[in-house]
Amino acid sequence: MDPTAEIEQGLSAFGEDFRAQFAAAESELTLRSARAELLGKKGRLTQLLKLMGRVPADQRKRLGEAVNASKLEVEACFQARLDELSRAAREADLKATPFDLSLPGRAPARGHLHPLTQVREQVLDTFEGLGFEVASGPQVELEENNFTKLAFPPDHPATDMQDTFWVKVAGAESARTLLRTHTSNVQVREMSQRQPPMAVVSGGAVFRRDDDVTHSPMFHQIEGFWVGEGVSFSHLKGVLTAFLERMYGAGVAVRFRPSYFPFVEPGAEVDVACDFCTETTCASCRVCKGTRWLEILGCGMIHPEVLEHCGIDSERYTGFAFGLGVERVAMRRYGIPDIRLLFENDPRFLAQF
Ligand code: DAH
Repeated sequence: MDPTAEIEQGLSAFGEDFRAQFAAAESELTLRSARAELLGKKGRLTQLLKLMGRVPADQRKRLGEAVNASKLEVEACFQARLDELSRAAREADLKATPFDLSLPGRAPARGHLHPLTQVREQVLDTFEGLGFEVASGPQVELEENNFTKLAFPPDHPATDMQDTFWVKVAGAESARTLLRTHTSNVQVREMSQRQPPMAVVSGGAVFRRDDDVTHSPMFHQIEGFWVGEGVSFSHLKGVLTAFLERMYGAGVAVRFRPSYFPFVEPGAEVDVACDFCTETTCASCRVCKGTRWLEILGCGMIHPEVLEHCGIDSERYTGFAFGLGVERVAMRRYGIPDIRLLFENDPRFLAQF
């Protein structure tokens, strides 16, 4: 078609349509897209302008003015409607229910310590109250401090690949390194550094190749020991009973059972009476599993060989040591059936403590 005719037809074709379209637009977004249909890159008016190059010179001025006039009209009409819309929005805002600044704010939910941290701090605080000082030890440890100096025989099953995570340390091939399997390494480190009397507690993560409802490859223990002149099994019983009474209430029944750990002699395990059941409901108690007793800790008189390995005169000094599992205490205290709940950090679980 002849470009002059095309432009003339095009101009009259969109005529006054845009006015109705703009008036119907109820939001800035629809208004802007209606405008883009005319003035955008592919808009109808833009297309007509592109034809100008092919219009004969004598027609160009007249047509150019006509297209420009249409463009100005569209712009003016667009701006008027845009102003109308923003005025309406502002009025609606003013008429809306006012925002009440005096309403109380939404307080952020208050967090709390993880149940394992609560138990650990309570145990450490209790021993501090009994005169123990708090120490710490590394999680990556030498075999020597975790096993050898604690009188584990070299072929003890705990050192097995099954139980212990061994660690390769670049440039230290000769010393065997592992993730500590218990907090008893703190005994070795503290006793090797100074001479008695000393009473120390320490808590932290330990690692074993174990994974089921009651075992996790990473869990927490608390270790304690007291070495001095004349420290006896009576002291062990007295201190641990005092500790358990502070944890579980005065008069709680406590039982010492003979047991074996390589680094103590004699060794014992300590149970407290289950407080989740009574004589009559005991058979079905899931916490003590019908035994009426909860196993809480391992303990014993530090083996003279261990004292000697740490440079302490075993003729002059004696001592006792104990270790307890933090997860165990927490699980029994709160009746938690699966250890993994303690590490998944599901807020629905944690909010219960
Ligand atoms: N280290 C032992 C374990 O992980 C717990 C233990 C038992 C620690 C007796 C002690 C102790 O200090 O005397 O099973």
